[in-house]
Amino acid sequence: MDDKIANIICKSIRLKIFEKNKVEDVSEGENMRVVIYPGTFDPVTNGHIHIAERAGSLFDRVIIAVAADNYKKNLFSLAERIDLMKKSTKHIENIEVESFTGLLAEYAKGKDAQASIRGLRAVTDFEYEMQIAAMNKHLNKDMETIFLMTEGKYSFLSSTMIKQVAMVGGSVKGLVPLIVEDSLKTKYKLSLEKDKS
Ligand code: COA
Repeated sequence: MDDKIANIICKSIRLKIFEKNKVEDVSEGENMRVVIYPGTFDPVTNGHIHIAERAGSLFDRVIIAVAADNYKKNLFSLAERIDLMKKSTKHIENIEVESFTGLLAEYAKGKDAQASIRGLRAVTDFEYEMQIAAMNKHLNKDMETIFLMTEGKYSFLSSTMIKQVAMVGGSVKGLVPLIVEDSLKTKYKLSLEKDKS
């Protein structure tokens, strides 16, 4: 599916949400169209940025919610992940970056968000994402989950894969923002030095 078709689908979903909420003026205040883009972002990749940019063009306000607690062992601290995300998305006007703890469904209620957005890279993502979406719907019936197809050139990307390549000195150029590339180099250089001493 190309970007054009994905955008048409998202626009029609957006219209349905607004019709349901009987919103007339969607440009300001409590009528703003707010979407949450949640994730661990350890670290943020160009695949994530592409999803964030497209979310920015579909919604009035995009809140990137960086998960503070999860089951993964992260390379970057929460503060670092937020900082990298802020620097990597500063070109997108209507984006804010925050951390969140606990349930996404509860966090979205507190932010008056109508939806959460997730990127789908391949069929293998679908089943897992469908389960999360169903659980979130159960916990917050007012929150829709919107999926955007990840662009083909990023469909093989994951934060884990980026870390694996960077750890052994491979190039991740073009796959992550420049600031992330530099931070990965620094992180792994420091850990190598630590191991030697
Ligand atoms: N481009 C590149 N990579 C992408 C991508 C894209 N467009 N979309 C997804 N990915 C990658 C991520 O980088 C991540 O890679 P990794 O596993 O190597 O780190 C992977 O796909 C998806 O990981 P996953 O753990 O599914 O999602 P996440 O890390 O992005 O975030 C939360 C998961 C935080 C959204 C979810 O756990 C959550 O909502 N937690 C809060 C608790 C809660 O509410 N639970 C109830 C719902 S189950």
